[in-house]
Amino acid sequence: MALDPSNKKATLTFSDGSPALDLPIHAGTIGPDVIDIRQLYGKTARFTYDPGFLSTAACDSSITYIDGDKGELLYRGYPIEQLATQCDYLETCYLLLYGELPSSEQKRQFDRTVTYHTMVNEQMQFFLRGFRRDAHPMAVMTGLVGAMSAFYPDSMNLNDPQQREISAHRLIAKMPTLVAMAYKYTVGQPYVYPRNDLSYAANFMRMMFATPCEEYKVNDVLVRAMDRIFILHADHEQNASTSTVRLCASSGTNPFAAIAAGVACLWGPAHGGANEAALGMLHQIQREGGVAKIGEFIASVKDKNSEVRLMGFGHRVYKNYDPRAKLMRETCHEVLQELGLQDDPLFKLAMALEKIALEDEYFVSRKLYPNVDYYSGIVQKAIGVPVQLFTAIFALARTVGWIAQLNEMIADPEYKIGRPRQLYVGEKRRDVTPIASRGVKHEKRAAERV
Ligand code: CMC
Repeated sequence: MALDPSNKKATLTFSDGSPALDLPIHAGTIGPDVIDIRQLYGKTARFTYDPGFLSTAACDSSITYIDGDKGELLYRGYPIEQLATQCDYLETCYLLLYGELPSSEQKRQFDRTVTYHTMVNEQMQFFLRGFRRDAHPMAVMTGLVGAMSAFYPDSMNLNDPQQREISAHRLIAKMPTLVAMAYKYTVGQPYVYPRNDLSYAANFMRMMFATPCEEYKVNDVLVRAMDRIFILHADHEQNASTSTVRLCASSGTNPFAAIAAGVACLWGPAHGGANEAALGMLHQIQREGGVAKIGEFIASVKDKNSEVRLMGFGHRVYKNYDPRAKLMRETCHEVLQELGLQDDPLFKLAMALEKIALEDEYFVSRKLYPNVDYYSGIVQKAIGVPVQLFTAIFALARTVGWIAQLNEMIADPEYKIGRPRQLYVGEKRRDVTPIASRGVKHEKRAAERV
């Protein structure tokens, strides 16, 4: 989008006598202004340096807004608290994709469209069979989502808005089917086909937990919890996986390939893998002695040499409370109560660890609060979702956000392929010497690089 010019500017001066440069400043609707440095390299032959993008806005976007200091999250301007309590996931998807909440007729049509895309090509089963039964679900999901481009070649053209829309419906509709299939495959149970009379979340839970042996009874509290997990994870502005999807799609690849790249990125424990890592951490403390061992564990987290982190705590953007965590905490208590699990030792441990960390000076001074994944892991575990599948459910929920962001980028006439630059700190130009005369230093250097 062409940014509105503002009267504000920043002046960059150099200590080496190079001429100063005026840089335009653009204001968003809310949030920090940005200094527009697009002319910097052309005018000064210098780049900016910002590893981890701590100070870089990589794009303009009208989808999601986060105020990390206030602990605020808005989708298209609506607070997450209102969406999580007044809307369902498919309404949220509609909002993220089209910019407005749907009317009841628009919602009926959208729900119907998504519902009628939930089945996957039968051939997908045979593809899935190629994986080891004990493969990590995220390894399987990366493969399955990437493979969708082999199954749906009629909706691959990223530059055709209609094909983009069809691929969006397909991805949103088929992700629950694929995640459930990946699960059924690991436990050796028959796949359960989607049922069109159920809601999105209820259908997913049935595909996960039903067997042909008995009728599956939908539990409304658990379905609401799953739907809330979906809503809270639907988008989160330019996080690592979303930036990955944008960067990947900027090359003009197809939507399924770009979303598969997002799935791969989300897998990491510092991002979507955190809920799995948090549960793993709780299990470990449990094995080592439970609540009595919390003090020792917290001490190892604080030890600078230990590299132990309290998983499910801290966030790159939220330096106040993660607003999603508040909602998920509420759901967590609802679910534990519904299932009579309040006294389960693992959940008691989670609550005790949360309390101690929230009062500890180390965490308070660094503004480290529980994030959404601390509680979403506990909720999913209580519902019966195996720990290894947590991140796949996050990917399912985030798919709509990735698509909305990808669409926004592609529809922008000013979009360019993403191509960051670098500060080169390697060897200066040098000449190749014959192999017989190369010394040991080469071996050492090569080893150091590994
Ligand atoms: N446990 C212990 N110490 C921590 C933690 C933690 N979870 N997170 C940050 N710190 C400390 C860190 O050691 C550093 O201390 P010091 O200033 O003494 O060196 C300080 O807090 C700042 O840490 P940072 O690594 O600079 O913070 P960051 O903003 O780069 O990292 C984070 C954000 C999410 C990667 C990190 O908090 C973390 O690793 N958390 C655990 C993993 C996790 O739960 N991730 C899920 C994020 S929410 C899901 C999503 O949106 O993807």
